[in-house]
Amino acid sequence: MLPSKQEIVDKALSEVNFEAWENLHREYADKIAAQRDVWPQDRIEKLERNYSKYFELEKWLQYHSRHVMTADLHDGEGPKRILDLGCGAGIFLFICRTLGHHGVGLDIDSGMYRRMAEILGVDWRASPVLANTPLPEEFQGLDLISAIAIKFDRLDYGPQSAEPWGLDEWQYFLRDAASRLNPGGHIFIKPNYLIHPTETDPGVFFKDGRIMDMMRDTSVKATEHFDFLIPKSAFA
Ligand SMILES: C[S@@+](CC[C@H](N)C(=O)[O-])C[C@H]1O[C@@H](n2cnc3c(N)ncnc32)[C@H](O)[C@@H]1O
Repeated sequence: MLPSKQEIVDKALSEVNFEAWENLHREYADKIAAQRDVWPQDRIEKLERNYSKYFELEKWLQYHSRHVMTADLHDGEGPKRILDLGCGAGIFLFICRTLGHHGVGLDIDSGMYRRMAEILGVDWRASPVLANTPLPEEFQGLDLISAIAIKFDRLDYGPQSAEPWGLDEWQYFLRDAASRLNPGGHIFIKPNYLIHPTETDPGVFFKDGRIMDMMRDTSVKATEHFDFLIPKSAFA
């Protein structure tokens, strides 16, 4: 029988080194507090909110357990080789590991993410995803390439402009990612909002609506949360 969402979360929680996690949380809270007399109040408040949010592990495990199920990573088939792009602290890969899979997470350089991933035992590497640029050559023969809550917007150099990716950049990315997959492999993608929804407005993911159409049209699974499971065969 397949594990339930709660069973997936409980198993992951049972493998967390909470002492190290909370120590790191306190260390970052102290770093921010030390800047109280230096930085403006609103900057301090924003940082405090953001940093604390990252450490709410159970909440993020609940969130990613949904992605694990959509990507069929809980079915006992495996182990699968995963590359997680824009992986943050590596929490998605951590759950995957507790289910017997293994993989590597890439993000832009961040001391905090690196240390969070270390506590979670996730192979975390600083390697940005750039527009119209192949992923690092070493990543081949994968079963899943995931990119969760991303828009690859955090850089502005070389081929990566400050502008959000357009249709060409997304097509380039999806073709390159598909070429790294084993037969039967998938891309699991969840775009982040360009403009977040409000009570009166549904929000915007992409400036060019054709990008969302492409994700919908190529996916074998699409959820109400805008999670798309795209098979290799759609792009390779
Ligand atoms: C909203 S967070 C999502 C983190 C993680 N995927 C999760 O769901 O917990 C977006 C992530 O994308 C990363 N990111 C933004 N632009 C990137 C780029 N060009 N290459 C790699 N990562 C990037 C950010 O640093 C951040 O960690």
